[in-house]
Amino acid sequence: MRVGILGATGMVGQRFIELLANHPQFEVTAVAASDRSQGKSYGEACSWRLAGEMPVAVRSMKVQPPAPPLDCDLVFSSLPGEIARETEGSFAAAGYPVISNSSAFRMDEDVPLLIPEINHQHLGLIEKQKRRYSSGGFIVTNPNCSTIMLALALAPLHASFGVSAVAATTLQALSGAGYPGVASLDIIDNVLPHIGGEEEKIETETKKILGRFVDERIDHAPMAVSAQCHRVNVADGHMAAVRVKLERKAELNDLREALEAFRSLPQELGLHSAPARPIVVRDEVDRPQPKLDRDAGKGMTITIGRLMPDAVLDHRFVVLSHNTIRGAAGAAILNAELLIGLGYLSHG
Ligand SMILES: NC(=O)c1ccc[n+]([C@@H]2O[C@H](COP(=O)([O-])OP(=O)(O)OC[C@H]3O[C@@H](n4cnc5c(N)ncnc54)[C@H](OP(=O)(O)O)[C@@H]3O)[C@@H](O)[C@H]2O)c1
Repeated sequence: MRVGILGATGMVGQRFIELLANHPQFEVTAVAASDRSQGKSYGEACSWRLAGEMPVAVRSMKVQPPAPPLDCDLVFSSLPGEIARETEGSFAAAGYPVISNSSAFRMDEDVPLLIPEINHQHLGLIEKQKRRYSSGGFIVTNPNCSTIMLALALAPLHASFGVSAVAATTLQALSGAGYPGVASLDIIDNVLPHIGGEEEKIETETKKILGRFVDERIDHAPMAVSAQCHRVNVADGHMAAVRVKLERKAELNDLREALEAFRSLPQELGLHSAPARPIVVRDEVDRPQPKLDRDAGKGMTITIGRLMPDAVLDHRFVVLSHNTIRGAAGAAILNAELLIGLGYLSHG
């Protein structure tokens, strides 16, 4: 399928370009960004910040305004939240499937907030969007980068034992703030205890993702979720220290087995970006660490460690994932692969 990338020059946009370079199902045919970049070649406009060379195929592609029509069958969006609502909405209204990273539509009642391993049933909401977009276009979103790893860690626990309360303290990488992101003088020798809107996103999105699709709507999971977010001096890899209270009593080994055994539809369908193991549990006392564990499963596996009993809630652990791969571009690409696998996408 021919894909366009909105926000193609940013941190997440660059990950899209990298991950799609040799993808068996998608070919990048259009790139769009702000008026700072429009009219330039992608090579001129983009300050490439990933290891390795910018893929040759996109270098001479002209950066376009993020507005329909674009020469593609679907769009991936990594636009800033403030402009995403109008722009993504205009693509859906023009008949494009929009696979979005942005927060703009995540909590809309008729928009799936998708993690393929957890809630592929929520794709039933696409049918409901036909009332909004008669063009056949629709929007599917992926969650906030910290929410994705938290929800993935909670999903097997919730399915096996019921999660009634969660408290998560995040340590979030600099690439999560985009490029150029946080000023160096604010973050060297420092930790910032505020990331705008992040705590609320984790607290609301988690309940929607873990909710059930009934009667054409999502019944949000009835758990208490509390989040405190911090920006730390790490390039890539978000981490969270998590405490959970369970509805049914479980031993540590039961939790470990549920986490390690977790597999779902993307693994069954053999989707290209699906990791063989969505969750790896490590027993070393000093893991997970961003530098050592963010690339597990090519950045699509989350790593859990420090699993132990907790004196306040029942259990605790530390979870880590790659924020621009499993937390953003890789998540959106996996969503699109699932949409193809389930017959929601066809060539234009
Ligand atoms: N970074 C992460 O880990 C992460 C994870 C999950 C979700 N997200 C979400 O993904 C989105 C992008 O994040 P990012 O980290 O990639 O940000 P970024 O590095 O700041 O990139 C923003 C992109 O949007 C474009 N853009 C900015 N203003 C625009 C405008 N007015 N009109 C058209 N295009 C515009 C930029 O183009 P120019 O280069 O031309 O300015 C650039 O391509 C955000 O909504 C963010 O919340 C990010």
